Amino acid sequence: MNTSFIDACRKKEPEHTPVWFMRQAGRYLPSYRKIKGDRPVISVAKDPEAASQVAVDAVAALGVDAGIIFADIMLPLEKMGVAFKIEENIGPIISNPIRNESDVDALRTIEPETDLEFVYSGIDLTLQKLDGLVPLIGFSGAPFTLAAYMIEGGPSRNLEMTKAFLYSQPDAWKTLMRKLTKMVECYLDYQVKHGVAAIQLFDSWVGCLSPGDYERFVLPYSRDIFSSIDRVPKIHFCADSSALLERFKETEPDVMSVDWRVPISQVWERCGDSIGVQGNLDPVLAMTGGKEMVKQSREILHQARDHPGYVFSLGHGVLKETPPENLRQLVQLVHRGTTSRT
Ligand code: CP3
Repeated sequence: MNTSFIDACRKKEPEHTPVWFMRQAGRYLPSYRKIKGDRPVISVAKDPEAASQVAVDAVAALGVDAGIIFADIMLPLEKMGVAFKIEENIGPIISNPIRNESDVDALRTIEPETDLEFVYSGIDLTLQKLDGLVPLIGFSGAPFTLAAYMIEGGPSRNLEMTKAFLYSQPDAWKTLMRKLTKMVECYLDYQVKHGVAAIQLFDSWVGCLSPGDYERFVLPYSRDIFSSIDRVPKIHFCADSSALLERFKETEPDVMSVDWRVPISQVWERCGDSIGVQGNLDPVLAMTGGKEMVKQSREILHQARDHPGYVFSLGHGVLKETPPENLRQLVQLVHRGTTSRT
């Protein structure tokens, strides 16, 4: 087993700096497009054979140090009673958005083990196919980001409806966040039981909140989730997290995954040397490739050089126009540039 990813998450000096990419299994890869065919992404995620194959193909195609289960943050919502589809190039669209307390009360409590059985069969098959080559990361959307999709009904630039909801209906917000928190804890617990070696919580859109609102309306729930998991390293991702870094750390993840808007060295300066950090090359640079990609990647590695708890990644998901060759080049650049440390 290549242990560099788990070593870095645990702040043990890894053999080389580990690297993997959010959305490493996606449309930019010919093998993914072939398996997906004309069906929606959700039907691939619900098909354990296909889901495990695209996850493993991505690891083989890129030579990364970790795989990630092929699922989507939206999957658990359907069984809670929130119908959605994922519109290509747009994102999730929800036909019955949540607008008030009675909508929140109507949400069903799910049993992930049975309601989302396909996710766990997918994990079992992915682990079989990986055959110990690299560790497998499990994941879930964080309560805030899931609530934001449920309230907005679709992608939104500034999440006005979500913010209006939490300011004007604080009790309904609390109930909603509690329901989602319980669901996420249970969903992740079973992922760990099925053998994922680390988990990542995606709070993709929470960067739109002020630090004070983050602390009141989000932090306690994310912290509860992290404190419920103790056997595997925990990664917390948030885009546009610069203003929130210190609060974000209070959720107590092992690794904070940040985007390109914050220099990686600043995370340690502001949050202390003991935190792990993941990121943060701009996905546009991975898509563009060439000298600028190499230059900025080296700069990131330079800033991270004295920190064993560092995982190289992009600041957000791989863009669909990215040539796979660029990602392979990044993997080699990171591995070659950091092997000599040991
Ligand atoms: O290798 C992997 O990382 C794939 C597994 C994965 C998917 N979604 C499959 C998928 C993961 C980790 C996710 C997480 C996810 N889904 C997030 C959090 C990460 C982030 O980007 O902030 C969010 C917000 C979603 C919701 C969602 N699903 C969006 C915004 C989209 C993009 C729509 C589009 O067409 O651009 C999806 C669809 C989706 N989920 C794709 C993949 C690979 C792209 C569609 C496809 O490849 O067919």
